[in-house]
Parts: sequence; structure tokens; C-alpha cells
Amino acid sequence: MDALLGVAADVGHINTKSNVKGYEPSKGEDQIKECLKGADIVLIPAGVPRKPGMTRDDLFNTNASIVRDLAKAAAENCPDANILIISNPVNSTVPITAEVFKKAGVYNPKRLFGVTTLDVVRASRFISQYKNTDPANESIVVVGGHSGETIVPLLSQSGYNLDGQALADYIKRVQFGGDEVVQAKGGAGSATLSMAMAGARFTESLLKAAQGQKGVIEPTFVDSPLYKESHGVTYFASNVELGPNGVEKIHPVGKITDHEQGLLDTCLKQLKGNIEKGEAFANQNV
Ligand code: LMR
Repeated sequence: MDALLGVAADVGHINTKSNVKGYEPSKGEDQIKECLKGADIVLIPAGVPRKPGMTRDDLFNTNASIVRDLAKAAAENCPDANILIISNPVNSTVPITAEVFKKAGVYNPKRLFGVTTLDVVRASRFISQYKNTDPANESIVVVGGHSGETIVPLLSQSGYNLDGQALADYIKRVQFGGDEVVQAKGGAGSATLSMAMAGARFTESLLKAAQGQKGVIEPTFVDSPLYKESHGVTYFASNVELGPNGVEKIHPVGKITDHEQGLLDTCLKQLKGNIEKGEAFANQNV
């Protein structure tokens, strides 16, 4: 029996108004088709996790083709669905997915999202430990991408300030929070539970927006004409207002400190490389 049926049984115990059904990839290609047909939201966390000492980019060789194949199946079976990518390296797997959809002639940039919610969750949790506040009430703005120095927390936009070593430590912890979990798990994987919570939060927000709720804003890594023009990157994570059509409004970075500008400059160099790597892979392998 496929282990995925166990995951379905597990998820099926959650008390939401839902039908939960597991599919068995080992039973053949029809399973993925059946699973995706008619889907409105497809959340892709598939792939191998990091081991201590690895960066997310080190997962590229394995995960790029996994995401490409799932994206192909989604483009064929539910071309209008919202596609949410958790599989790392997100900075590259989102561009890969976009290229697959473009090739299939069904790309809608408003419906493709890299899930970066966990970066804001971490940034909020960690600031609350400095400021002794309730992390549930914090919402730190985080922009850029989802990997190391491409993750840029903008404390100044939440009215906070940390100085010297405290600021350096805070930023490092937000940027490398994922590594903390990878280290602690000692080779047995990366964050799953906090990531599940973050993925669920983003998906719920998307559902609320789809049902007409106004003012739903989440951070997410999207195809962004705004940032292409202002910062030279095709994809960028920032606060995004969600709506029935997916991306409703991409928020600009706004006013930031000189120090934050320095972090953003470092981010952009790396992010460009990550995006180009994904696009180059897709151009050769799709
Ligand atoms: C995370 O942020 O925890 C995930 O992207 C997994 C990882 O490799 O760090």
C-alpha cells in the first residue's frame, strides 16, 4: 500500500467540512490525472528535503524535475487552478512551473504562488522573543525570495528597531531559520509542521479571497511586473493582496532603511541567479 494513503488518513481526521481522498502513484499515471482533474488549488510540497550543510539550491538537481513533472500534470488536468509551490528551491521551482505552463499555453501569472508564509511566521515569532509581545499579533514584512540571504525582513516597516548585534542576529535567524530546523533534525529532514501551518494559512487566505473577502493580504513569491520594472527580477516575494482571480495587487517595498537596502541589494543578486537557473532548466528540459 502507498504511504500517501497514510497521509490521507492522517489529514482525514482534521475537523473541517471536507472530503479527503488518497491516491496511489504506484498504481499508474491515471492516479495523478484523477487527483488533479477539476482542482481549484494545487499545493506542491513534493521533493527531497535538505540535510545539514546543504542549501536549498543543493536540492535543485533532484527537485527541479519532480516539480516540472507535477506542473506538467497540473497544466494538462487543471490549467486554471491556483498553483502553490512549497518544493525547494522555491526561488527556482516557481520559474520552472511558470515555464511549463507557458509551454502548455495556459500560463496565468496571477495564479502561481511560491509559499513564503513561513518566513513571515518565523520573523514574527523571533521578534516577539526580543520585544516580549504575542507573536500571533506580529506581522513582520518580509520580501525577496525563500532562501538564505534572499529572505529580507523589513523590521522598520513594522515600526520596530533593533541595533547592532541584536539586529544582525535577528536577521540571520530569519534568513537561516530553515537551517536551524534542518540542523536540529540531524539528517532526518527539514521543517514540516511549521511549514504545514504556513501552507494552510496561505491556502485559507486564498480561499477566503476567492469567496469574495476583501483586504486579504499575504506575503508570496509571484511573477511581478512591478518588481521587474523597479528591481530587475521577474519573480519577487512581497505582500500581495489576494482576490477571486488570485493576485489582485502586488505591494511595493515602500520606504526602507539604508541597512535594509543593503540586504535587498544582496538578495537581488542571488535571486536573479536562482530565477535564471530555473528558467534555463525549463528551457532545456520541458
Ligand atoms: C523552510 O523554510 O523550513 C523550508 O524551506 C525547508 C528548508 O529546507 O529549510
